[in-house]
Amino acid sequence: QHCFTKSEDGYLYCEGNKVQDVMEIVEKRPFYLYSKPQITRNVEAYKEALEGLNSIIGYAIKANNNLKILEHLRKLGCGAVLVSGNELKLALHAGFDPTRCVFNGNGKILEDLVLAAKEGVFVNIDSEFDLENIVAAARIAGKKVNVLLRINPDVDPQVHPYVATGNKNSKFGIRNEKLQWFLDAVKAHRQELKLVGAHCHLGSTITKVDIFRDAAVLMVNYIDEIRVQGFEIDYLNIGGGLGIDYYHTGAVLPSPRDLIDTVRELVLSRNLNLIIEPGRSLIANTCCLVNRVTGVKTNGTKNFVVIDGSMAELIRPSLYGAYQHIELVSPSSPDAEISTFDVVGPVCESADFLGKDRELPTPTSGAGLVVHDAGAYCMSMASTYNLKMRPPEYWVEEDGSVSKIRPGETFEDHLRFFEGL
Ligand code: LLP
Repeated sequence: QHCFTKSEDGYLYCEGNKVQDVMEIVEKRPFYLYSKPQITRNVEAYKEALEGLNSIIGYAIKANNNLKILEHLRKLGCGAVLVSGNELKLALHAGFDPTRCVFNGNGKILEDLVLAAKEGVFVNIDSEFDLENIVAAARIAGKKVNVLLRINPDVDPQVHPYVATGNKNSKFGIRNEKLQWFLDAVKAHRQELKLVGAHCHLGSTITKVDIFRDAAVLMVNYIDEIRVQGFEIDYLNIGGGLGIDYYHTGAVLPSPRDLIDTVRELVLSRNLNLIIEPGRSLIANTCCLVNRVTGVKTNGTKNFVVIDGSMAELIRPSLYGAYQHIELVSPSSPDAEISTFDVVGPVCESADFLGKDRELPTPTSGAGLVVHDAGAYCMSMASTYNLKMRPPEYWVEEDGSVSKIRPGETFEDHLRFFEGL
């Protein structure tokens, strides 16, 4: 069951609501429309997959940091994965149990580490200097920190280079040839650090679970080595990274169950607690960016559909050449010609596209056009470029009603930054 469905007469629905009708009741600007029940279903899929294992689902807040969504995920039992002090503060604000949170990152700063130490979150050690900073933070906070070693396993995730993180020349994690140095350093700092586990994160948009399996095999071998040296470590954190069906071709992609099943025996054989860090696979498919067509034009050999949304609201196509499925929210007239269009925004640069070479019935001005799978890394990466202010967010609740979960930013918000200067 998926939240966005096309009816036989050609209208797009979200959990019983015609998207076109929603467009009538909200502000006339691009907006994000989520399905709250779909978020629940996605979490349930992970929970069911994890049955029989001791585990933490650490939702990667960077994917989407809407407070209402965070609160919902927390109520469903998720922990959180953080990459900045502000994400940690927001997680606390949303009521996440800090002892079910993991602080990740290759450039964590002391101030943020002190907060993490005080709150008792798991901290991943990423480098020599990071270890020094975590030790310093533990001293300042007067707390011993539960740490995991972020190991860079050198496994190729077969994804866009910008979202690959676990290959040997990446800026993240520590390489195995340095493992002993880190184990010695942790031993030398047993006042400040308690080593509780090992972590890896391979990358994002991964569509083959064998890749996770290969990494997990390497990781449990590291864990064996670490245990031999007298460390009682209980946690294997395999990161996030499961991809989703952006192409809507009906191809079957690995599910959370496929992912967990591929590592289950390894985890059980070593009596480990499993931490996973999904972002995209929990939230991406729960949302569309809803736009309005401003007009249609042709230049040279190209046809363009110009919409009010842009790379400011949704940058993934521009930044990674990412494909996100695009469709109109209502049926077009029978005589509308089907053509190949680039779907572009009004922002003043040619990187501003939401989709290239898309077959669409020629839309009329004002028609609704959605960009699918916009729940992850879309609003959280939105900017105010060209003073296109960040869009409002709505969700459809369990009872089918639509509510606002974040107001759109306004021009007045922008002016407010300068008040009193
Ligand atoms: N854990 C760590 C350490 C990570 O770096 C990430 C994502 C995750 C978990 C969550 O990964 P996910 O399950 O969402 O794939 N902006 C890019 C994606 C960047 C991912 C960064 N790290 C995009 O829009 O595709």
